[in-house]
Amino acid sequence: MAATDRGRIVATETQPETKTASDAVLRCEGLKKSFGDIHAVRGVSFHITPGETYGLLGPNGAGKTTVISMVCGVLDRDGGEVFIDGDEMRPSSVGIKSLIGYVPQDLAIYPDLTARENLSFFARLYALSGDVKGRVGEVLEMTGLSDRAGDLVKTYSGGMKRRLNIGIGLLHRPKLLILDEPTVGVDPQSRNAILESVAQLSDEGMAVLYTTHYMEEAERLCDRVGIIDDGQLKAEGTRRELVSLVGEHDRITLAGSGDLEAGAEAARGLDRVREVSVSDQGLSLIVDDVRSALPELLAALAGSGVNIRNIDISEPDLEAVFLHLTGKALRD
Ligand SMILES: Nc1ncnc2c1ncn2[C@@H]1O[C@H](COP(=O)(O)OP(=O)(O)OP(=O)(O)O)[C@@H](O)[C@H]1O
Ligand SMILES: [Mg+2]
Repeated sequence: MAATDRGRIVATETQPETKTASDAVLRCEGLKKSFGDIHAVRGVSFHITPGETYGLLGPNGAGKTTVISMVCGVLDRDGGEVFIDGDEMRPSSVGIKSLIGYVPQDLAIYPDLTARENLSFFARLYALSGDVKGRVGEVLEMTGLSDRAGDLVKTYSGGMKRRLNIGIGLLHRPKLLILDEPTVGVDPQSRNAILESVAQLSDEGMAVLYTTHYMEEAERLCDRVGIIDDGQLKAEGTRRELVSLVGEHDRITLAGSGDLEAGAEAARGLDRVREVSVSDQGLSLIVDDVRSALPELLAALAGSGVNIRNIDISEPDLEAVFLHLTGKALRD
């Protein structure tokens, strides 16, 4: 079952959470930002409770980084409010900002220093008190960089640099960790290490805001996901709640070549076809009753000059939810 709330869909199938918005570490209300004619963020609201990992899932240009920049207070907002641990974030809110660990999309580390030197430098910058050396050692351990702590960062792999970038955000033990697409351009092993450390931090009670355009990461990591496109949250909920929005439909992923646009047009004309998107590799469709839909779909595609190499039929996933809500593929 889905209810609408200010134009977006809120999946309300289950209410397992006892934590509510009033316990939120982060609460955003009606965030807005434009750059000239570009309405990058158009009224975004959500909240994150302690120990919860919230994913903002959306394609390039959806507005994820702009939302995060406003949450962290590094970008002025045109409208809306941000509350951290119940207190409103204002430009002068230095104390509140220290509750946030922000890991930017672009690496912010020094290549000519070692990992240990980078962490020590940022620890001084954040005016960390107490056992700084001990904390640096802990963060090196958490990010799996202890073995290479004395090597210059410029000799690191992309994944190791990313992990160091995350470590810097963790130094001051934030209540809210914000990660902006932390696995882009990272090898599978490092990606796994990053996802595991985020899951562990979340188990320890940290609230995490995680942006990605990888559906698999949102499915694996996030307790709740907000689907963002064109500056708006189109829906939010648990994976199960979101998938239920698609209803009793199946998803067909079809790899092929030939006149894919003509094939998509023909598919759209079929009664049992709900959504169609075209990519370089082929077509992605949501259909009712796959057994009846498939024969007529194949006939329509053959008639439009599409050569099919492979067909994959699956239950709806977050990619299907995105297609259902926006009529577009997450990754074109
Ligand atoms: N400083 C800026 N000046 C002008 N336009 C901007 C600026 N920052 C972002 N935009 C525009 O705002 C929109 C949202 O951008 P944003 O970076 O928030 O998207 P994103 O979801 O983070 O995308 P990506 O996945 O590529 O990082 C885009 O159209 C982008 O071009
Ligand atoms: Mg971004």
